[in-house]
Amino acid sequence: MLAIIGGSGLTQLACLEISHRQIIRTPYGEPSGPLTFGKLRNEDIVFLARHGHGHTIPPHAINYRANLWALHSLKPAHVISVASVGGIRADLTPGQLVIPDQIIDYTHGRGATYFEDKEQPVTHIDFTWPYCQQTRTLLLRAAHHGNETVFDGGVYAATQGPRLETAAEINRLARDGADMVGMTGMPEAALARELALNYATIAVIANHAAGRGSNAAGIALHEIHAVLEQAMIKVRNILEHVVSCHGD
Ligand code: HPA
Repeated sequence: MLAIIGGSGLTQLACLEISHRQIIRTPYGEPSGPLTFGKLRNEDIVFLARHGHGHTIPPHAINYRANLWALHSLKPAHVISVASVGGIRADLTPGQLVIPDQIIDYTHGRGATYFEDKEQPVTHIDFTWPYCQQTRTLLLRAAHHGNETVFDGGVYAATQGPRLETAAEINRLARDGADMVGMTGMPEAALARELALNYATIAVIANHAAGRGSNAAGIALHEIHAVLEQAMIKVRNILEHVVSCHGD
C-alpha cells in the first residue's frame, strides 16, 4: 500500500477509484479527516487531505502526530507528501516541481515528537537526511517515466504561518540556504522518521516567495489557485507512475 498526503490544491485524488473512507482514532487524537482508501492502477492507496476535507485546518493547527500515526498503522510501503511552497531560488518558478532533500525548521509550538511521555527514555532520531532516499528515488523515476520535469534536491524552509513571509524573512531564509518555503513540511517529516516511514515530498511551487520575481511588490494570491490546478495535473501523472515504478 502507498500512502499519499495531499496539501493545498490536492484535497482529493480524482484518479483514485475510491472503495471507502474510514475515521481512525489514534492516541494523539483524530487525523485531519477520514482516510480515503482506494486503488490507483490496481495498487492499494490511502489518501489523507492534510488540511481536512474542506481545507479548514491551518498549518499550525494540523494534528501531524495523529496523521502520521494513522498512516503508520496501515504499514504503507511509502508515504508521499504533496506540499505547495513559495519559490525562493530564482529558477524555482510557479508551476515547477521539486523533490527536496533537506529541511530547515522555523516552526514552533507544534506537537513535534512521539517521544515525550514521562516514562519514555529520551530518544534522538538521526535526521541528517530528512527524506527517505528510496522514496525520493521512486518519485524521481516516476517523474522520468511520466515525462515530467522535477528538480532533484533542494532545501525546504518550514515556516509557522499561516501568514506569508516578509521580504526580509525570505532574504534571511535565502541566506540560510533555503530554496523554497512552505508551512507544513515540519514536523511532518520528523514524525515520519520517528515512525521509520519511507517518506518524501513533492513540493509544488505555487508562487514566487515574498519579494522575489514578479512578487516584488506583494504576493499575487489570486494567481495561486490556477497555478496549483495546472501543477496538480503533473503531480497526479507522477503519482500514477509511482504505482507502476513501485513494483519494479
Ligand atoms: N510561503 C510559505 N508557504 C507557502 C508559500 C509561501 O510563499 N506558498 C505556498 N505555501
